Amino acid sequence: MSYIFGVGGYLQNLYWGEPVNAEDCAELMEVNFHSSFDPDTNLDREEFTCWNGRSFAEPCLKLQQGGESVVFTEFAGWEIFNGQEGVQTLRITLEDKIREFQLILEYVVYEELDIISRKAILNNIGGPLMIENFQSAALSLPQLERPFIRYVTGKWAGEFVINDAPVNTGVFTMQSKRGMTGPHFNPSFAVYEEGATEQNGNVWFGQLAYSGNWKISVEKTIFDNIRVIGGMNDSDFFKTLGQGESLETPEFFFGFSNGGFGGMSRKLHRFQKAHITTASKPRRVLYNSWEATAFDVNVKEQMKLADKAASMGVELFVVDDGWFGERHGDNAGLGDWTPNAGKFPNGLGELISYVNGLGMDFGIWVEPEAVNPDSCLFRAHPDWIYHIDGVEPMQSRNQYVLNISLKVVREYLLGMLRSLLAQNNISFLKWDMNRMITDLGSCDGVDHRELWRAHVDALYEIWGTLRREFPQVELETCAGGGGRIDLGILRYADQSWPSDNTDPYERLFIQEGFTNFYNPGIMMCWVTDTHPSYRRSGRRDISYKFRSAMCGGLGIGSNIGSLTAEELSLYSSHIDEYKSIRHIVQNGRLYRLLLPGNSPVSAVQYISESDEESVVFAFLHSQKFGDPCKRLKLQGLSKNSRYLVRTAGSEESDRVYYGSTLMHIGLPLSLKGDFDSALLKIKKLGE
Ligand code: DGJ
Repeated sequence: MSYIFGVGGYLQNLYWGEPVNAEDCAELMEVNFHSSFDPDTNLDREEFTCWNGRSFAEPCLKLQQGGESVVFTEFAGWEIFNGQEGVQTLRITLEDKIREFQLILEYVVYEELDIISRKAILNNIGGPLMIENFQSAALSLPQLERPFIRYVTGKWAGEFVINDAPVNTGVFTMQSKRGMTGPHFNPSFAVYEEGATEQNGNVWFGQLAYSGNWKISVEKTIFDNIRVIGGMNDSDFFKTLGQGESLETPEFFFGFSNGGFGGMSRKLHRFQKAHITTASKPRRVLYNSWEATAFDVNVKEQMKLADKAASMGVELFVVDDGWFGERHGDNAGLGDWTPNAGKFPNGLGELISYVNGLGMDFGIWVEPEAVNPDSCLFRAHPDWIYHIDGVEPMQSRNQYVLNISLKVVREYLLGMLRSLLAQNNISFLKWDMNRMITDLGSCDGVDHRELWRAHVDALYEIWGTLRREFPQVELETCAGGGGRIDLGILRYADQSWPSDNTDPYERLFIQEGFTNFYNPGIMMCWVTDTHPSYRRSGRRDISYKFRSAMCGGLGIGSNIGSLTAEELSLYSSHIDEYKSIRHIVQNGRLYRLLLPGNSPVSAVQYISESDEESVVFAFLHSQKFGDPCKRLKLQGLSKNSRYLVRTAGSEESDRVYYGSTLMHIGLPLSLKGDFDSALLKIKKLGE
């Protein structure tokens, strides 16, 4: 892509999109006079709008000093250097005409991956600055005939739902004010021209790397200038910056695709794998106790489950909630991170050794940021939670949130996690967070408005410390499902839990939304008994469940203790199958062939990094009038190569086709009835 801005009277964005010649853009800098009311409409395209009462687009910086809030910055210089990971970085310095501060705009250019990241840094040289709003970037788009925006929304057990809406004149905002990323909106966007599809069309996209209160606004002015402004939410935001202090925004990553949403997703996935979620090992097939036993975990039952899990090929055995303190339900024990003596009389070590003896790794669930009022931790330190003096703090899921911005709390949690990990052979932590932050009162002389950010900084500090001190321990980000998935936390995480909804059909929609913006290699999906408390209906076929879950990192959450011998053997063969293809799913390129909302058949295809192998998962929701499935057209193959296609489970099905046939005529699909599925394994044979 090209991303071009120029220095005139102010820093002006000129162009973002298909590569163009920068010299021809100079004329775009001329003043664009409309009337005395709008003497230069190009002001809507400022590269970083500072509020000064003269430019009226959504501001990126608003501050006060001595009661005045005008900011007049001017260009003071630039430099290019090799920054983090040796990536080429451009730094623009702006200086204020009145106040003594520097504003740095930083652009990190991941040239090969066609992604840029932007952030801003404020260095205060003079007296105290009161910052009210400081966004990461404003990204201007070219004028578009019929602009639309795609974004994902959700709620507990229904995350990552795709929304497509026209960009109208005005400001559209997505945000979180809940102290974390939240499931309601995800900090990702795609602006496109009407008519863009999975394969075609221009798409301008971006993602914010922040796990606290955030905001992304899309503004279309009356002169059809469109900008996307993103960063920390300015709602209830405030920061005093003393002399010599600096404030840095989170990074805002962005790119452009002329290959529709599929092209956008593949660019994002490739970038995330290279620079954000850098797990070097494949995602292990895991077993998780939550849906099978909920809070009722104990060493004997878990050992029985472990026997079954090991026999079917599980690699990581994870004990979820309920193993510690007096945690027999969600109303007590949270915060008391010692194994419950009734459930684990000999500590965790007994189960861990047993699990390890069966050849599996061991993982465990924690929710360190929260505490039940009915816990020893809370009784000992009632002042460690966020609270407002004189106001009864709100409980949600019977819990409060710990004020981890306090050093004493942070150190206590780190100490607890250090001993848990040092004393036990734990190789995986599922880090959960089951409520939003409320009751944020000012504390120890710190304005409560600064605590929103302080919580996120403290969280990153804890995760960063764990990564450094326990590099062998993998981390999963979970917040009652997919409530904290963003490029900020993913820098520290190896995988994510997108939703507590494990219905294999509804998951297809969640997986479509998730993979629009996030890499399927970190998208954990479990095969479960589809528990009715998650508002699901009906039983699903085991193969259907597995194939739906194999579209990401596979996990098992069923009550495997009650499976029949026949079911157990089916589980084993699907797990074996997954292990033989997971390198393609987790590291390959994803093509969403048919979307679940568009037809009764949906399908996704993955192509290996080497281009030699591909897998296709196809799902039929329900057959109507006995209609046969249409042939399924594949993507991303080489047209003159021949490919061997095998339907999993039936070797006699082997057929050889040219890539062009598979892409333009398609593969026959013999799905029938309700909730049928197929896994097709494809191997390149040569020309
Ligand atoms: C919410 C998570 O999303 C679930 O998977 C499970 O870990 C529960 N919390 C445990 O309380």
